[in-house]
Amino acid sequence: MNNQIEILNKIIRDRQSVFPSSFDPHRKIEDKVIKEILENAIWAPSHGLTQPWFFKVFYSKGVYTFFEALKEIYKSVTPIDKFSEIKYNKYTQKAELVSHVVVVYMKKDPRGIIPEIEEIVATGCAIQNIYLSFKSYGIGGYFSTGSIAYTKQVHDFLGLTDEEKVLGFFQLGIPDANMKEKQRKRIPASEKTTWISE
Ligand SMILES: Cc1cc2nc3c(=O)[nH]c(=O)nc-3n(C[C@H](O)[C@H](O)[C@H](O)COP(=O)(O)O)c2cc1C
Repeated sequence: MNNQIEILNKIIRDRQSVFPSSFDPHRKIEDKVIKEILENAIWAPSHGLTQPWFFKVFYSKGVYTFFEALKEIYKSVTPIDKFSEIKYNKYTQKAELVSHVVVVYMKKDPRGIIPEIEEIVATGCAIQNIYLSFKSYGIGGYFSTGSIAYTKQVHDFLGLTDEEKVLGFFQLGIPDANMKEKQRKRIPASEKTTWISE
């Protein structure tokens, strides 16, 4: 295998979600790193080159604003029998741990030519580019949707229009030096693939 293939395979196969409980709360990501990662995001493919992806970056006190808002939205939209005090309080803990939140949203093709599903797929490719960037930049994070990402309350909090749609939030930080790599599993591609010869 040539070196480039090895590097590529490693970047893709070693990509992983790192959760805020594994972040070092004393270290924050430099804004310029977030900017570089978003430059990687925008090289995703899109049908008709509509480039439907958009981002909102919450940083510094903005991280607290974000998690406070989510906390209250969670409380307001969750039926009383499903409400978890632990989950509610986790939003406050996350505000302490998370360095930056990157909200990923998409804007529908204004000409109405490209179907929404294609715009969602394209924005998903941008999401993967972000994920693939983490390790090389020494950061960690995960993409979250949870039970409230697609609510009207979150849409309104973010000030989005009817043409825009939230896909989810990256919660980012610097992994703790003692973080253990988790065991990740996948169903082999061979079990997911049908080859058709004629
Ligand atoms: C569209 C999407 C939504 C996700 N939403 C959540 C979520 O709400 N909560 C969560 O813990 N993880 C969420 N994840 C991250 C997954 O938990 C994670 O990708 C999965 O466990 C596989 O782990 P890996 O990313 O390390 O391979 C989401 C991932 C994707 C792609």
